[in-house]
Amino acid sequence: HLPEFPFSFAEWEEKATTLMSTSLLHYVAGGSGDQHTQTNNVEAFHHWGMTPRMLAAATERDLSIELFGMKLPTPLFMAPIGVTGIIDRDNDGERACARAAAATGVPFCASTLTQVPMEKIPGSLGETPGFFQLYTPSDKQLAESFISRAEAAGFKALVVTLDTWMPGYRPRDLVRSNFPQLRGWCLANYFSDQRFLDILGQDPDKDVRATARAFASVFGKSLGWEDLGWLRGTTKLPIVLKGICHPDDAKRAIDAGIDGIYVSNHGGRQANGGRAAIDMLPEVAEVCGDTPVLFDSGVRSGVDVVKALALGATAVGIGRPYSYGLAIGGAAGVEHVLRCLLAEAEIQMAIDGRADIASLRGDIQRI
Ligand code: FNR
Repeated sequence: HLPEFPFSFAEWEEKATTLMSTSLLHYVAGGSGDQHTQTNNVEAFHHWGMTPRMLAAATERDLSIELFGMKLPTPLFMAPIGVTGIIDRDNDGERACARAAAATGVPFCASTLTQVPMEKIPGSLGETPGFFQLYTPSDKQLAESFISRAEAAGFKALVVTLDTWMPGYRPRDLVRSNFPQLRGWCLANYFSDQRFLDILGQDPDKDVRATARAFASVFGKSLGWEDLGWLRGTTKLPIVLKGICHPDDAKRAIDAGIDGIYVSNHGGRQANGGRAAIDMLPEVAEVCGDTPVLFDSGVRSGVDVVKALALGATAVGIGRPYSYGLAIGGAAGVEHVLRCLLAEAEIQMAIDGRADIASLRGDIQRI
Protein backbone atom coordinates (compact mmCIF):
# COMPACT_ATOMS: atom_id res chain seq x y z
CA HIS A 1 0.00 0.00 0.00
CA LEU A 2 2.53 2.54 -1.09
CA PRO A 3 1.31 5.87 -2.29
CA GLU A 4 2.33 6.35 -5.90
CA PHE A 5 5.44 4.24 -5.63
CA PRO A 6 7.30 4.36 -8.94
CA PHE A 7 8.42 1.34 -10.94
CA SER A 8 11.85 2.19 -12.35
CA PHE A 9 15.26 3.04 -10.97
CA ALA A 10 15.29 6.55 -12.42
CA GLU A 11 12.06 7.34 -10.62
CA TRP A 12 13.19 5.74 -7.34
CA GLU A 13 16.30 7.87 -7.43
CA GLU A 14 14.36 10.99 -8.27
CA LYS A 15 11.84 10.45 -5.51
CA ALA A 16 14.48 9.52 -2.91
CA THR A 17 16.35 12.70 -3.81
CA THR A 18 13.45 14.76 -2.56
CA LEU A 19 13.28 12.82 0.72
CA MET A 20 16.90 12.41 1.83
CA SER A 21 19.04 15.09 3.45
CA THR A 22 21.52 16.64 1.02
CA SER A 23 24.52 15.22 2.83
CA LEU A 24 23.11 11.68 2.96
CA LEU A 25 22.11 11.86 -0.69
CA HIS A 26 25.65 12.87 -1.68
CA TYR A 27 27.01 9.97 0.32
CA VAL A 28 24.65 7.39 -1.20
CA ALA A 29 24.45 8.61 -4.79
CA GLY A 30 28.09 9.63 -5.14
CA GLY A 31 31.09 7.70 -6.37
CA SER A 32 34.80 8.23 -6.57
CA GLY A 33 36.59 10.84 -8.68
CA ASP A 34 34.61 11.98 -11.71
CA GLN A 35 32.31 8.96 -11.26
CA HIS A 36 33.45 7.43 -14.53
CA THR A 37 33.45 3.88 -13.21
CA GLN A 38 30.09 4.39 -11.54
CA THR A 39 28.54 5.60 -14.80
CA ASN A 40 30.29 2.93 -16.82
CA ASN A 41 28.96 0.18 -14.49
CA VAL A 42 25.43 1.11 -15.50
CA GLU A 43 26.00 1.87 -19.18
CA ALA A 44 28.01 -1.28 -19.87
CA PHE A 45 24.91 -3.42 -19.36
CA HIS A 46 23.62 -1.96 -22.63
CA HIS A 47 26.53 -3.51 -24.50
CA TRP A 48 25.33 -7.01 -23.67
CA GLY A 49 22.30 -8.56 -25.33
CA MET A 50 20.34 -11.78 -25.36
CA THR A 51 18.51 -13.35 -28.26
CA PRO A 52 14.92 -14.41 -27.54
CA ARG A 53 13.93 -18.02 -28.20
CA MET A 54 10.39 -18.96 -29.22
CA LEU A 55 8.24 -22.06 -28.68
CA ALA A 56 10.36 -22.65 -25.59
CA ALA A 57 7.61 -23.50 -23.09
CA ALA A 58 8.66 -20.97 -20.48
CA THR A 59 5.11 -20.69 -19.20
CA GLU A 60 6.35 -21.32 -15.67
CA ARG A 61 9.65 -20.00 -14.47
CA ASP A 62 11.86 -21.20 -11.67
CA LEU A 63 14.06 -18.41 -10.35
CA SER A 64 15.43 -20.38 -7.41
CA ILE A 65 19.11 -20.88 -6.80
CA GLU A 66 21.30 -22.79 -4.41
CA LEU A 67 23.96 -20.90 -2.48
CA PHE A 68 26.25 -22.49 0.13
CA GLY A 69 23.78 -25.34 0.53
CA MET A 70 20.82 -22.99 1.01
CA LYS A 71 17.90 -23.09 -1.37
CA LEU A 72 16.83 -19.51 -2.16
CA PRO A 73 13.63 -18.61 -4.02
CA THR A 74 15.32 -15.92 -6.11
CA PRO A 75 18.82 -15.08 -7.36
CA LEU A 76 18.76 -11.57 -5.83
CA PHE A 77 20.39 -10.30 -2.62
CA MET A 78 20.79 -6.96 -0.89
CA ALA A 79 24.43 -5.87 -0.96
CA PRO A 80 25.89 -4.37 2.23
CA ILE A 81 25.24 -0.64 2.58
CA GLY A 82 26.99 1.05 5.49
CA VAL A 83 24.25 3.60 6.03
CA THR A 84 21.06 1.54 5.75
CA GLY A 85 20.42 2.44 9.41
CA ILE A 86 20.08 6.15 8.72
CA ILE A 87 18.58 6.08 5.21
CA ASP A 88 15.40 4.90 6.91
CA ARG A 89 13.24 7.69 8.28
CA ASP A 90 13.07 5.95 11.67
CA ASN A 91 16.83 5.25 11.79
CA ASP A 92 16.01 1.55 11.92
CA GLY A 93 17.01 0.68 8.38
CA GLU A 94 18.79 -2.60 8.99
CA ARG A 95 15.72 -4.13 10.57
CA ALA A 96 13.53 -2.61 7.84
CA CYS A 97 15.69 -4.36 5.23
CA ALA A 98 15.58 -7.57 7.25
CA ARG A 99 11.78 -7.40 7.26
CA ALA A 100 11.80 -6.92 3.47
CA ALA A 101 14.11 -9.95 3.26
CA ALA A 102 11.67 -11.97 5.36
CA ALA A 103 8.79 -10.97 3.06
CA THR A 104 10.56 -11.75 -0.21
CA GLY A 105 13.15 -14.45 0.52
CA VAL A 106 15.87 -12.10 -0.75
CA PRO A 107 18.87 -12.29 1.62
CA PHE A 108 20.07 -9.13 3.33
CA CYS A 109 23.79 -8.63 3.82
CA ALA A 110 24.34 -6.39 6.85
CA SER A 111 27.36 -4.09 6.74
CA THR A 112 29.90 -3.78 9.54
CA LEU A 113 28.61 -0.21 9.74
CA THR A 114 25.17 -0.47 11.26
CA GLN A 115 22.99 1.67 13.44
CA VAL A 116 22.03 -1.24 15.70
CA PRO A 117 24.40 -3.97 16.92
CA MET A 118 24.46 -6.92 14.52
CA GLU A 119 22.75 -9.19 17.08
CA LYS A 120 19.52 -7.22 16.68
CA ILE A 121 19.14 -7.89 12.96
CA PRO A 122 18.57 -11.65 12.41
CA GLY A 123 15.39 -11.63 14.53
CA SER A 124 13.64 -9.70 11.75
CA LEU A 125 14.80 -11.96 8.91
CA GLY A 126 12.19 -14.68 9.34
CA GLU A 127 13.26 -17.76 7.38
CA THR A 128 15.47 -15.78 5.00
CA PRO A 129 19.23 -16.04 5.55
CA GLY A 130 21.25 -12.97 6.45
CA PHE A 131 24.92 -12.42 5.62
CA PHE A 132 27.41 -10.33 7.58
CA GLN A 133 29.89 -8.13 5.74
CA LEU A 134 33.21 -7.48 7.43
CA TYR A 135 35.42 -4.46 7.09
CA THR A 136 38.42 -6.16 8.64
CA PRO A 137 39.68 -3.96 11.47
CA SER A 138 43.43 -3.47 11.79
CA ASP A 139 43.14 -4.99 15.27
CA LYS A 140 42.90 -8.76 14.76
CA GLN A 141 41.20 -9.34 18.11
CA LEU A 142 38.45 -6.91 17.12
CA ALA A 143 38.13 -8.66 13.74
CA GLU A 144 37.82 -12.05 15.45
CA SER A 145 35.26 -10.66 17.85
CA PHE A 146 33.11 -9.31 14.98
CA ILE A 147 33.32 -12.65 13.17
CA SER A 148 32.40 -14.78 16.17
CA ARG A 149 29.58 -12.40 17.05
CA ALA A 150 28.23 -12.69 13.50
CA GLU A 151 28.35 -16.48 13.64
CA ALA A 152 26.68 -16.59 17.06
CA ALA A 153 24.02 -14.13 15.93
CA GLY A 154 22.94 -16.53 13.18
CA PHE A 155 24.28 -14.95 10.00
CA LYS A 156 24.80 -17.60 7.34
CA ALA A 157 27.83 -16.29 5.44
CA LEU A 158 30.74 -13.94 6.05
CA VAL A 159 31.39 -11.44 3.26
CA VAL A 160 34.84 -9.90 3.61
CA THR A 161 35.22 -6.68 1.64
CA LEU A 162 38.71 -6.28 0.20
CA ASP A 163 38.45 -3.04 -1.77
CA THR A 164 37.78 -0.57 1.04
CA TRP A 165 40.60 -0.83 3.55
CA MET A 166 40.82 2.88 2.83
CA PRO A 167 37.96 4.99 1.46
CA GLY A 168 38.05 6.12 -2.18
CA TYR A 169 38.62 9.71 -3.31
CA ARG A 170 35.03 10.93 -3.22
CA PRO A 171 34.77 14.64 -3.99
CA ARG A 172 31.11 14.82 -3.02
CA ASP A 173 31.98 13.66 0.49
CA LEU A 174 35.33 15.39 0.91
CA VAL A 175 33.91 18.85 0.37
CA ARG A 176 31.36 18.38 3.11
CA SER A 177 33.32 16.19 5.55
CA ASN A 178 30.55 13.88 4.65
CA PHE A 179 31.55 10.42 5.85
CA PRO A 180 28.67 9.65 8.23
CA GLN A 181 30.78 7.29 10.31
CA LEU A 182 33.22 10.10 11.16
CA ARG A 183 30.27 11.95 12.59
CA GLY A 184 29.39 9.03 14.82
CA TRP A 185 26.70 7.33 12.72
CA CYS A 186 26.40 3.60 12.15
CA LEU A 187 29.12 2.51 14.56
CA ALA A 188 26.94 0.33 16.78
CA ASN A 189 29.01 -2.82 16.18
CA TYR A 190 32.08 -1.01 17.49
CA PHE A 191 30.46 0.48 20.57
CA SER A 192 28.86 -2.83 21.49
CA ASP A 193 32.25 -4.56 21.38
CA GLN A 194 34.37 -4.70 24.51
CA ARG A 195 37.55 -4.96 22.47
CA PHE A 196 36.79 -1.64 20.75
CA LEU A 197 35.93 0.01 24.06
CA ASP A 198 39.27 -1.18 25.41
CA ILE A 199 41.04 0.39 22.42
CA LEU A 200 39.05 3.58 22.89
CA GLY A 201 39.99 3.64 26.55
CA GLN A 202 37.40 6.19 27.56
CA ASP A 203 33.74 7.00 27.58
CA PRO A 204 32.76 7.62 23.93
CA ASP A 205 30.45 10.47 24.84
CA LYS A 206 33.20 12.56 26.42
CA ASP A 207 35.25 13.41 23.35
CA VAL A 208 33.72 12.91 19.92
CA ARG A 209 36.98 13.64 18.11
CA ALA A 210 38.87 11.03 20.10
CA THR A 211 36.12 8.57 19.30
CA ALA A 212 36.31 9.37 15.58
CA ARG A 213 40.10 8.99 15.72
CA ALA A 214 39.79 5.63 17.47
CA PHE A 215 37.34 4.43 14.80
CA ALA A 216 39.56 5.69 11.97
CA SER A 217 42.58 4.00 13.58
CA VAL A 218 40.96 0.57 13.56
CA PHE A 219 38.91 0.87 10.35
CA GLY A 220 40.13 -1.26 7.52
CA LYS A 221 43.12 -3.45 7.10
CA SER A 222 44.76 -4.17 3.79
CA LEU A 223 44.62 -7.94 3.89
CA GLY A 224 47.31 -9.93 2.08
CA TRP A 225 47.26 -13.48 0.72
CA GLU A 226 49.12 -14.52 3.85
CA ASP A 227 46.08 -13.49 5.95
CA LEU A 228 43.65 -15.89 4.29
CA GLY A 229 44.77 -18.82 6.44
CA TRP A 230 44.02 -16.80 9.55
CA LEU A 231 40.67 -15.69 8.12
CA ARG A 232 39.71 -19.25 7.20
CA GLY A 233 40.47 -20.37 10.74
CA THR A 234 38.23 -17.75 12.37
CA THR A 235 34.86 -19.25 11.40
CA LYS A 236 32.89 -22.20 10.14
CA LEU A 237 30.72 -19.90 8.04
CA PRO A 238 31.20 -19.83 4.29
CA ILE A 239 33.61 -16.99 3.49
CA VAL A 240 33.04 -14.76 0.46
CA LEU A 241 35.64 -12.27 -0.76
CA LYS A 242 34.02 -9.07 -2.05
CA GLY A 243 35.74 -6.90 -4.60
CA ILE A 244 37.49 -9.58 -6.67
CA CYS A 245 37.81 -8.40 -10.29
CA HIS A 246 40.67 -10.43 -11.76
CA PRO A 247 40.47 -14.14 -12.61
CA ASP A 248 43.93 -14.80 -11.13
CA ASP A 249 42.80 -13.37 -7.78
CA ALA A 250 39.68 -15.52 -7.92
CA LYS A 251 41.69 -18.68 -8.64
CA ARG A 252 44.14 -17.98 -5.85
CA ALA A 253 41.35 -17.27 -3.36
CA ILE A 254 39.57 -20.53 -4.23
CA ASP A 255 42.85 -22.41 -3.82
CA ALA A 256 43.15 -20.85 -0.34
CA GLY A 257 39.81 -22.37 0.68
CA ILE A 258 37.53 -19.38 0.11
CA ASP A 259 33.91 -20.43 -0.51
CA GLY A 260 32.57 -17.63 -2.70
CA ILE A 261 33.90 -14.99 -5.09
CA TYR A 262 32.09 -11.64 -5.14
CA VAL A 263 32.78 -9.64 -8.30
CA SER A 264 32.19 -5.96 -7.53
CA ASN A 265 33.85 -2.59 -7.85
CA HIS A 266 31.86 -1.23 -4.92
CA GLY A 267 29.39 0.53 -7.19
CA GLY A 268 32.14 2.85 -8.45
CA ARG A 269 32.83 4.27 -4.99
CA GLN A 270 36.41 3.02 -4.67
CA ALA A 271 38.68 2.64 -7.71
CA ASN A 272 37.82 5.04 -10.52
CA GLY A 273 38.77 4.85 -14.20
CA GLY A 274 38.36 1.11 -14.24
CA ARG A 275 36.34 -1.34 -16.25
CA ALA A 276 32.64 -1.82 -15.68
CA ALA A 277 31.94 -4.59 -13.19
CA ILE A 278 29.67 -6.47 -15.61
CA ASP A 279 32.47 -6.60 -18.20
CA MET A 280 34.80 -8.25 -15.67
CA LEU A 281 32.24 -10.84 -14.55
CA PRO A 282 32.49 -13.45 -17.37
CA GLU A 283 36.25 -13.90 -17.21
CA VAL A 284 36.16 -14.30 -13.42
CA ALA A 285 33.15 -16.64 -13.53
CA GLU A 286 34.98 -18.80 -16.06
CA VAL A 287 37.69 -19.77 -13.58
CA CYS A 288 35.37 -20.31 -10.61
CA GLY A 289 34.03 -23.75 -11.53
CA ASP A 290 31.59 -24.85 -8.82
CA THR A 291 32.49 -21.98 -6.51
CA PRO A 292 29.55 -19.55 -6.31
CA VAL A 293 30.02 -16.15 -7.92
CA LEU A 294 28.21 -13.21 -6.38
CA PHE A 295 28.01 -10.01 -8.38
CA ASP A 296 27.03 -6.38 -7.94
CA SER A 297 27.67 -2.86 -9.28
CA GLY A 298 25.42 -1.14 -11.77
CA VAL A 299 22.34 -3.40 -11.65
CA ARG A 300 19.36 -1.11 -12.21
CA SER A 301 16.64 -3.36 -13.61
CA GLY A 302 15.35 -6.89 -13.78
CA VAL A 303 16.86 -7.15 -17.25
CA ASP A 304 20.27 -6.34 -15.75
CA VAL A 305 19.71 -9.15 -13.22
CA VAL A 306 19.05 -11.59 -16.07
CA LYS A 307 22.14 -10.44 -17.98
CA ALA A 308 24.38 -10.86 -14.92
CA LEU A 309 23.06 -14.40 -14.45
CA ALA A 310 23.67 -15.16 -18.12
CA LEU A 311 27.24 -13.91 -17.73
CA GLY A 312 27.95 -16.33 -14.91
CA ALA A 313 26.70 -14.85 -11.63
CA THR A 314 25.18 -17.31 -9.16
CA ALA A 315 23.48 -14.50 -7.26
CA VAL A 316 23.06 -10.81 -8.11
CA GLY A 317 23.31 -7.97 -5.60
CA ILE A 318 21.91 -4.48 -5.63
CA GLY A 319 22.97 -1.48 -3.59
CA ARG A 320 21.53 1.90 -4.51
CA PRO A 321 18.18 0.60 -5.85
CA TYR A 322 17.02 -0.78 -2.50
CA SER A 323 18.64 2.13 -0.63
CA TYR A 324 16.30 4.45 -2.48
CA GLY A 325 13.35 2.16 -1.75
CA LEU A 326 14.29 2.38 1.92
CA ALA A 327 14.37 6.17 1.77
CA ILE A 328 10.98 6.30 0.09
CA GLY A 329 9.04 3.77 2.09
CA GLY A 330 11.03 1.91 4.76
CA ALA A 331 10.58 -1.87 4.74
CA ALA A 332 7.64 -1.62 2.34
CA GLY A 333 9.75 0.52 0.00
CA VAL A 334 12.57 -2.03 -0.04
CA GLU A 335 10.08 -4.83 -0.63
CA HIS A 336 8.54 -2.90 -3.50
CA VAL A 337 11.91 -2.38 -5.20
CA LEU A 338 12.81 -6.06 -4.83
CA ARG A 339 9.44 -7.17 -6.21
CA CYS A 340 9.76 -4.80 -9.20
CA LEU A 341 13.21 -6.14 -10.08
CA LEU A 342 12.09 -9.75 -9.67
CA ALA A 343 8.94 -9.19 -11.70
CA GLU A 344 10.88 -7.62 -14.54
CA ALA A 345 13.49 -10.38 -14.43
CA GLU A 346 10.85 -13.09 -14.56
CA ILE A 347 8.89 -11.41 -17.36
CA GLN A 348 12.12 -11.06 -19.31
CA MET A 349 12.89 -14.75 -18.86
CA ALA A 350 9.39 -15.66 -20.03
CA ILE A 351 9.58 -13.51 -23.15
CA ASP A 352 13.12 -14.69 -23.90
CA GLY A 353 11.95 -18.30 -23.56
CA ARG A 354 14.03 -19.32 -20.54
CA ALA A 355 12.32 -21.35 -17.84
CA ASP A 356 15.14 -21.42 -15.31
CA ILE A 357 18.42 -19.83 -14.46
CA ALA A 358 20.56 -22.65 -15.75
CA SER A 359 19.10 -22.05 -19.22
CA LEU A 360 20.29 -18.43 -19.15
CA ARG A 361 23.96 -19.29 -18.77
CA GLY A 362 26.15 -18.20 -21.62
CA ASP A 363 23.27 -17.23 -23.85
CA ILE A 364 24.39 -13.64 -24.22
CA GLN A 365 26.59 -11.69 -26.58
CA ARG A 366 28.52 -8.47 -26.67
CA ILE A 367 26.71 -6.07 -29.01
C1 FNR B 1 28.10 0.72 -0.26
N1 FNR B 1 28.84 -0.46 -0.42
C2 FNR B 1 29.35 -1.11 0.68
N2 FNR B 1 30.02 -2.28 0.53
C3 FNR B 1 30.48 -2.95 1.61
O1 FNR B 1 31.08 -4.01 1.45
N3 FNR B 1 30.26 -2.44 2.87
C4 FNR B 1 29.62 -1.28 3.10
O2 FNR B 1 29.44 -0.85 4.23
C5 FNR B 1 29.16 -0.56 1.96
N4 FNR B 1 28.54 0.64 2.11
C6 FNR B 1 27.97 1.27 1.03
C7 FNR B 1 27.26 2.45 1.22
C8 FNR B 1 26.62 3.05 0.13
C9 FNR B 1 25.82 4.29 0.35
C10 FNR B 1 26.71 2.46 -1.16
C11 FNR B 1 25.98 3.05 -2.33
C12 FNR B 1 27.45 1.32 -1.34
C13 FNR B 1 28.95 -1.10 -1.75
C14 FNR B 1 27.76 -2.02 -2.00
O3 FNR B 1 27.83 -3.16 -1.20
C15 FNR B 1 27.69 -2.49 -3.46
O4 FNR B 1 28.94 -3.03 -3.83
C16 FNR B 1 27.32 -1.38 -4.43
O5 FNR B 1 26.35 -0.52 -3.88
C17 FNR B 1 26.77 -2.01 -5.71
O6 FNR B 1 26.57 -1.06 -6.67
P1 FNR B 1 25.16 -0.36 -7.00
O7 FNR B 1 24.09 -1.43 -6.98
O8 FNR B 1 24.94 0.69 -5.94
O9 FNR B 1 25.42 0.19 -8.34
